[in-house]
Amino acid sequence: MKLKNAVVFITGANRGLGRALAQAALAAGAAKVYAAARDPAGIDLPGVVPVALDVTDAAQVAAAAAQCADVTLLINNAGILEGAPVLADDAIATARRQLETNFFGVWALTQAFAPVLQANGGGAVLNVLSVLSWLTMPGTAGYSASKAAAWALSNGLRAELKAQGTRVTNLHVGYMDTDMTRGLDTPKSAPADVARLALEGVEAGNFEVLADDISRHVKQSLSTPTPAYAG
Ligand SMILES: NC(=O)c1ccc[n+]([C@@H]2O[C@H](COP(=O)([O-])OP(=O)(O)OC[C@H]3O[C@@H](n4cnc5c(N)ncnc54)[C@H](OP(=O)(O)O)[C@@H]3O)[C@@H](O)[C@H]2O)c1
Repeated sequence: MKLKNAVVFITGANRGLGRALAQAALAAGAAKVYAAARDPAGIDLPGVVPVALDVTDAAQVAAAAAQCADVTLLINNAGILEGAPVLADDAIATARRQLETNFFGVWALTQAFAPVLQANGGGAVLNVLSVLSWLTMPGTAGYSASKAAAWALSNGLRAELKAQGTRVTNLHVGYMDTDMTRGLDTPKSAPADVARLALEGVEAGNFEVLADDISRHVKQSLSTPTPAYAG
């Protein structure tokens, strides 16, 4: 999968990592970048094609796949984080919302675009996951569950889309300097750096990109007697 001359579709491309991915795709020579957003008027990046898309809206998902029939790389980036203690009254409602966007959204987009990718020679899918696919912290059970579910889904997509020549890459990242982590006083990666690493991973055909030390550390710990998720 080469970025040069690729046609890239990115969800949640109006800000944060999605905007950085759009910028990185253009810099890498993509022929076209569809920047999808709930409010396409909020897209301020020159050179992209805005598309209206809420990933939880089935009609908009179908319309986007029909409208963007030349896509060769789908990037499922849109996501929400709503912290809630597991015993809070609204914890399950909060988790459901995160699953709708972070899990079912990825599924719906990939289902809609898989025939498009196949028709265009196979292409690739990049799914933006998290270090929290493998780790739950106080307040993140709903978010972590959605990212763990998306991890399982992404691995299933890789297995099933192989036959049509579509590669699937998982991106795991810890803290990035975006609106999602505003107010968190901790070292954060620059979204531009993460975007560049992610696209390099797609180009290399890698199944997984670990974008920072915390992701590498947590992944490495999983098969040890003291995995990070054990607390
Ligand atoms: N920031 C981090 O530290 C971090 C770490 C690991 C993984 N991630 C993941 O990285 C991805 C990008 O997050 P970010 O850090 O860039 O956060 P962000 O700045 O909060 O951006 C989130 C993006 O997702 C969009 N979005 C949310 N719900 C949507 C929906 N239903 N339909 C379409 N778009 C929707 C938002 O659009 P609106 O502007 O319309 O709200 C926005 O464009 C997410 O999947 C997130 O889980 C982030």
